[in-house]
Amino acid sequence: MNSSWSKGLISFRHHTVIMVESVSDRRSRMVPRVFPFLHSSFFIAWLKTGKEVTMVDMNQIREDALKQIDASDSLGELDALRVSLLGKRGSIQSLMKEMKNLPKEEKPAFGAAVNELKQSVSEAIEKQKEVLAQKALNEKIESEKIDITLPGLRPSHGNLNPLNLVERELEDLFVGLGYSVIEGDEVTTDFYCFERANIPQGHPARDMQDSLFIDNEKLLRTHTTAIQMQVLEESAPNPIKVVCPGKVYRRDDDDATHSHQFMQMEGLVIGENVPLSDLKGTLEFVARKMFGKDREIRFRPSYFPFTEPSVEVDVTCHMCNGKGCPTCKGTGWIEILGAGEVHPNVLRMAGYDPDKMNGFAFGVGLERIAMLKYGIDDIRHFYTNDRRFNETFDRFD
Ligand code: DAH
Repeated sequence: MNSSWSKGLISFRHHTVIMVESVSDRRSRMVPRVFPFLHSSFFIAWLKTGKEVTMVDMNQIREDALKQIDASDSLGELDALRVSLLGKRGSIQSLMKEMKNLPKEEKPAFGAAVNELKQSVSEAIEKQKEVLAQKALNEKIESEKIDITLPGLRPSHGNLNPLNLVERELEDLFVGLGYSVIEGDEVTTDFYCFERANIPQGHPARDMQDSLFIDNEKLLRTHTTAIQMQVLEESAPNPIKVVCPGKVYRRDDDDATHSHQFMQMEGLVIGENVPLSDLKGTLEFVARKMFGKDREIRFRPSYFPFTEPSVEVDVTCHMCNGKGCPTCKGTGWIEILGAGEVHPNVLRMAGYDPDKMNGFAFGVGLERIAMLKYGIDDIRHFYTNDRRFNETFDRFD
């Protein structure tokens, strides 16, 4: 290494490119210039062309620049790199400014070399830009990916109304005893609602059921006994064992214990020799299932036009076990339904021979059962459709 070479060969601080100002006849005027050039050091070659000139090692610069471009990790970083390399005050652009210090004959080669350097650096930047843009896109796609395997939001849905719970529970019990479940029309006729139930026009029992008539003949059924009458007519002269649940309607002012709409379940068993004691055994079984195994039932004589004899059925109070409490109004007994042996007139009208076939029937109000069983104090709760009310009975399902 000769002296001029060793003078020109400057070892530089990391991250900094230093270039010796070239083209000078007098070495004393040569002042090293510092070009900011990230992550790089390079050699300066002194070319002997009669005079001393300086050539930057373009290949080294290119190599360093490409390395940095390649290592850049984000579009922002790449752009900063572009400015520092190719920008007006960038290191490569600054090389051009050195042109003026070169001898004339070196200028074209130097200029071409710098242009070529510029070209390859900007091509590399463009390429890397595409790579990083694709990478950024991939990251975006990845981060915005909708994971369809996540469980969705559970749609909130309602609960069964306690009336439906009671209805289902009773149906299950009766089906277990061999009964079928039959439903009828809510709009029925005066004929099935009253005439066939042994309540002819002008009968005082009609006053007990203030009805909602649709025309002279059609009305909203006032009791599920209307279904019983149709089942009898359709089944005669064969045996029957059915329960018939459904909504019934009466013209009434609504309050805590009255509703113009409520639910009943009718029961009907017809066969040869069906004694009242069968009814008692059946109802005792059902009452114990519904209200607890210690329940007793009792029959009290009553009157219904469609049964003879007729009874009201009471069950011992499930709150006080028959001792007497506010729920049973101190009596120890709670009335749950009306029942009796199907009236011979009813059997005859439907097509049965009452001397050969007989049976029992009962009608139970489902609101009453639900109110007793769940301690509900106002019949209107069943019909206001407040989900908070219904949710209370989830545990009974
Ligand atoms: N239908 C009667 C009512 O609504 C209830 C009833 C009583 C039905 C006795 C019956 C029965 O089948 O035998 O008040």
